[in-house]
Amino acid sequence: MSTRRQFIKHVAIGTSALSMGGVLPGFSASSYRNIIGSNDRIRIAGIGVNSRGSALAKGFATEKDKGCVVTDICDVDSRAIGKCIKTVQEIAGNKPKGHEDIRKMLESDDYDAVFIATPDHWHAPAAIMAMKAGKHVYMEKPASHNPDENRMLIEAEKKYGKVVQVGNQRRSWPNVVHAIKELHDGVIGEIHFGRSWYYNKRPSMGIGNITAIPDWLNWDLWQGPAPRVSYKDNIVHYNWHWRWHWGTGESLNNGMHFVDLLRWGMKLTYPSKVTSTGGRYYYRDDWETPDTQLVNFEFSNGKVLSWESQSCNRSSMGGYSSGVTFYGDKGSLTIGSGNEYQIFDLDNKLVKQVDSKMVFEEGNLVNPTQDLDAYHFQNFFNAIREGAKPNSTLTEACMSTQLVQLANISHRVGRAVKVNDRGMIENDNEALKFWKRDYEKGWEPRI
Ligand SMILES: NC(=O)c1ccc[n+]([C@@H]2O[C@H](COP(=O)([O-])OP(=O)(O)OC[C@H]3O[C@@H](n4cnc5c(N)ncnc54)[C@H](O)[C@@H]3O)[C@@H](O)[C@H]2O)c1
Repeated sequence: MSTRRQFIKHVAIGTSALSMGGVLPGFSASSYRNIIGSNDRIRIAGIGVNSRGSALAKGFATEKDKGCVVTDICDVDSRAIGKCIKTVQEIAGNKPKGHEDIRKMLESDDYDAVFIATPDHWHAPAAIMAMKAGKHVYMEKPASHNPDENRMLIEAEKKYGKVVQVGNQRRSWPNVVHAIKELHDGVIGEIHFGRSWYYNKRPSMGIGNITAIPDWLNWDLWQGPAPRVSYKDNIVHYNWHWRWHWGTGESLNNGMHFVDLLRWGMKLTYPSKVTSTGGRYYYRDDWETPDTQLVNFEFSNGKVLSWESQSCNRSSMGGYSSGVTFYGDKGSLTIGSGNEYQIFDLDNKLVKQVDSKMVFEEGNLVNPTQDLDAYHFQNFFNAIREGAKPNSTLTEACMSTQLVQLANISHRVGRAVKVNDRGMIENDNEALKFWKRDYEKGWEPRI
């Protein structure tokens, strides 16, 4: 952590002294969660439970005293189903039913909601199928694989009226909520620039071979809406992130969280111009998306945001491997990787520091924030039970997703893209080719 921290007045409020963001004064995080229990059961099924999905299953199962029960588990990797059922059983005592085919599982009335933690190409299609089947949805970020799917998601939400919470869980973390409130109250004056970053040290994904499909995997269902290609041995699991056919790169894997915070803190909608530079520099392998990316989002009201990522060099900024800094005419405010923030004056002197006992676990790719996720789950339950507004609404999440998708489109065409106030690319037919994807016949999302 930076040495300047040693000079400042330490405001150790943790989560206990917050009076907003849903946390009452005098309550610790866990006691707060206990007082809002309800007997209304929320029965939830999981779709995609290898790593993040398994952490979500664990998290939802842990909420059993809040009336949550994980009833069903769906994955196309039979090993992941077995492991996840065992985990839920150990935590909550019940044995969820296992499924391979999402379409079959969605025929069941044994649950009210689903959580989705599949690869990105499945997010929007699965969420639409689930809403159509009458289920509420907790879906992982990014909301979608391409901009046209954002439109489809919003249409489906409107048509089916189900609750949708997107996994931008920072929108529920108490100190982050408090930091954003401080920004909105003018703590650093008018904000002109917001910077976001993420650094990691990811290994090469190598060069894959076309091999026989493993017997534990249903490759056809894994591909689902994506046009069919031969199975290669270096895609499943996780490395699909770095192939445009299924994934969306580091920018939507991690930039998503941080660009969403910048937009929220600065009350921004769509930019007027987006420019991305960078490339795959560290290894020569099957990885297509950039491992080094610099993005600028310019707004017509004279504000600018940046996103910077390095996937193969675990550096840091201000002591954080990921985070955001807002720069205003009275000072700056940094939200680090976790549930904490710092305020600096214009001479970069630290004037306030807000920490949390609930820490972000550096290097944990699956669930660095288990305790903090519970806030986001609780808000989802309140939305289902009492009509509360989800903290990460589909509208906001789709907007943040689209900003970063615009960055990836700029990257792929190798030039800036101009954007109108509805978030659409203007006068660039080559860039517009990335607006939608081709779907495998029979798998097109239908609202
Ligand atoms: N909010 C967060 O902090 C956070 C953290 C990590 C990951 N994520 C997101 O979670 C998602 C999953 O990430 P991951 O690292 O667990 O990926 P992963 O590749 O390890 O796991 C994806 C799982 O989905 C399964 N799957 C694929 N097609 C399926 C289908 N048709 N039906 C059911 N299951 C299917 C796969 O077999 C696999 O088990 C990603 O979109 C990622 O961006 C979010």
